[in-house]
Amino acid sequence: MARTLTAITGFGLLAAAALAFLPARQADAAAMMASTPKTAGDPVAGAQVFERCAMCHTADKGAGNRVGPNLFGVVGRKAGTVPNFPYSTALKESGITWTDDKLKEWVAGPQKMLPGTRMMFSGLSDQKQIDDLIAYLNSKK
Ligand code: HEC
Repeated sequence: MARTLTAITGFGLLAAAALAFLPARQADAAAMMASTPKTAGDPVAGAQVFERCAMCHTADKGAGNRVGPNLFGVVGRKAGTVPNFPYSTALKESGITWTDDKLKEWVAGPQKMLPGTRMMFSGLSDQKQIDDLIAYLNSKK
């Protein structure tokens, strides 16, 4: 009986601690989001990261398609809409609009985000490189 009581009290304490902890964490997260600019990356450093994309993509206006479509103005664009580019059905029908967040997910692992895509790229894992790259793409408009 005593043991059960201890167990129950113990659980109660844990739950109380968890409850006290949660709102604090949420407040932290909210503060972080408020103070972090939409794109924290450095576009100049991002241009270097883009070297890894450049064998398949151009990002300048009117520069044309390579193995991959031209990426000028890609931020905010609907996926699969560059004229005359032979997209995969998967990308064309994905319904994706290329926001910063979607682009981050994409460059981290296109095949994981969209099985069936023709973009053969293993993905970036360095968060700073990803942020810089997205800042660079944002500058191309
Ligand atoms: C080996 C070639 C290759 C590399 C390297 C590559 N891509 Fe791609 N990319 C493609 C191809 C091919 C497609 C079209 C995919 C499809 O149709 O499924 C594509 C599609 C895209 C799209 C979708 C564009 C649209 O119009 O919807 C984005 C965004 C993109 N790539 C960004 C990048 C970025 C950023 C990098 C560098 C981190 C990169 N790609 C590296 C070949 C490549």
